[in-house]
Amino acid sequence: MATPLAPMFNSVGNDLTVLVFAPFGKDSTLIERVLQQSGINACAIPSFKELIRAVPENGGAVIISEEVLHHEAVDELAQKLATQPRWSDFPLIVLTGGGATTDTTELAVRSRAPLGNVALLERPLRPVTLISSVRGAIAARRRQYEIRDHLLERKRAEEALQRAHDVLESLVEERTAALRALSGKLLRVQDEERRRIARELHDSLGQYLAAAKINLNVVATAGGDGTLYIQEASQLIDRAIADTRTLSHLLHPPLLDEAGFASAARWYVEGFGKRSGIAATLDMPDNLRRLPSPIETALFRILQEALTNVHRHSKSPVVDVSLKTGAKSVTLIIKDKGRGIPRQVLEKFRKTGTNVGVGLAGIRERVKELDGTLKIDSSDAGTLLKAVIPVSVPEQREAGLPVLSPIYSSIVH
Ligand SMILES: Nc1ncnc2c1ncn2[C@@H]1O[C@H](COP(=O)(O)OP(=O)(O)OP(=O)(O)O)[C@@H](O)[C@H]1O
Ligand SMILES: [Mg+2]
Repeated sequence: MATPLAPMFNSVGNDLTVLVFAPFGKDSTLIERVLQQSGINACAIPSFKELIRAVPENGGAVIISEEVLHHEAVDELAQKLATQPRWSDFPLIVLTGGGATTDTTELAVRSRAPLGNVALLERPLRPVTLISSVRGAIAARRRQYEIRDHLLERKRAEEALQRAHDVLESLVEERTAALRALSGKLLRVQDEERRRIARELHDSLGQYLAAAKINLNVVATAGGDGTLYIQEASQLIDRAIADTRTLSHLLHPPLLDEAGFASAARWYVEGFGKRSGIAATLDMPDNLRRLPSPIETALFRILQEALTNVHRHSKSPVVDVSLKTGAKSVTLIIKDKGRGIPRQVLEKFRKTGTNVGVGLAGIRERVKELDGTLKIDSSDAGTLLKAVIPVSVPEQREAGLPVLSPIYSSIVH
């Protein structure tokens, strides 16, 4: 008796079901029983229509008797099998009449081409022949499913690779755009810096020297005792000298080259505290050894920019700077207790390196150049900027390191 169609068994892990369609006599029932007894899933199909519906997705093979394979049936079956994907070659076992060749046997043989993978099995059937043919067909089908799974896996891997490639490409694009933006900003900063130096020279040095000159002219033309004028001119020149020193040292502290980062940092943090009114502390090992010059310059510029940001943006009353040295790296931390970096600004900066000014982008580039890592934590309780820089920098990297121009805007007046 025919049993209802089994559910889909088309993955390699499951047993494949053999669909049996031999509607005359008891062939279906007998075949089903013999196969089931030898542990093969078999399912008799009640009608040709249902068989057409089931192949090729359901089942591992079909056993079909030649009596049902008239022209239209072959066409219909061939049409359905033509929808198979390329990896699939659905196995058909056609039961032929025994002995002399019948018309239908010939038809079955001729129909081999459109039906694809056809094997003929002569009746009367011997269980051992039936079972071995079916096992062979199912093994072949299972291999096809393995190929399908392999192809699927490969397709998935290719898609994953493509996705990774796309992500990488968009990251490169974003990064290139960020660098382009940074270099544009750097040019603007350079202009701004020149303007400020010009203003500084004009407004302080220029004014002091002009006033001193007036005093000296008065003495020269009026004659007599010009002591007071000369004293005042001397004071003005002193101020001009002091301002020249400050200006020049802030642009590039000679201490940095001569005595190293430790001295320059002490001088700068102390001056920053005085100029900004922010209580600034510095925690550094007493006997800090000299570091390679690109690292000292980078640390100093990072310190300058981070402190300028604290002054310009944080509203923090305090800032703590610390420098820690390990066997392989130095760590610079600048921590304030201000209002923090706006969340969206920080998130975008973390993801793409954009959305900030020259300051943070410049810090990031400097750290990257030295193969270091930059971490910025920020909340409404304050900001912590931590730069870790490896100290064993390869020689050629040191030599070829591009040093960004000093940023005058980081001077706090
Ligand atoms: N310590 C801080 N506390 C609060 N906000 C900060 C702090 N540091 C940076 N920010 C925020 O991050 C933004 C980006 O800083 P960044 O230094 O890159 O640019 P900027 O200071 O605005 O301009 P510049 O290009 O002159 O440095 C700032 O505009 C500010 O909103
Ligand atoms: Mg800044």
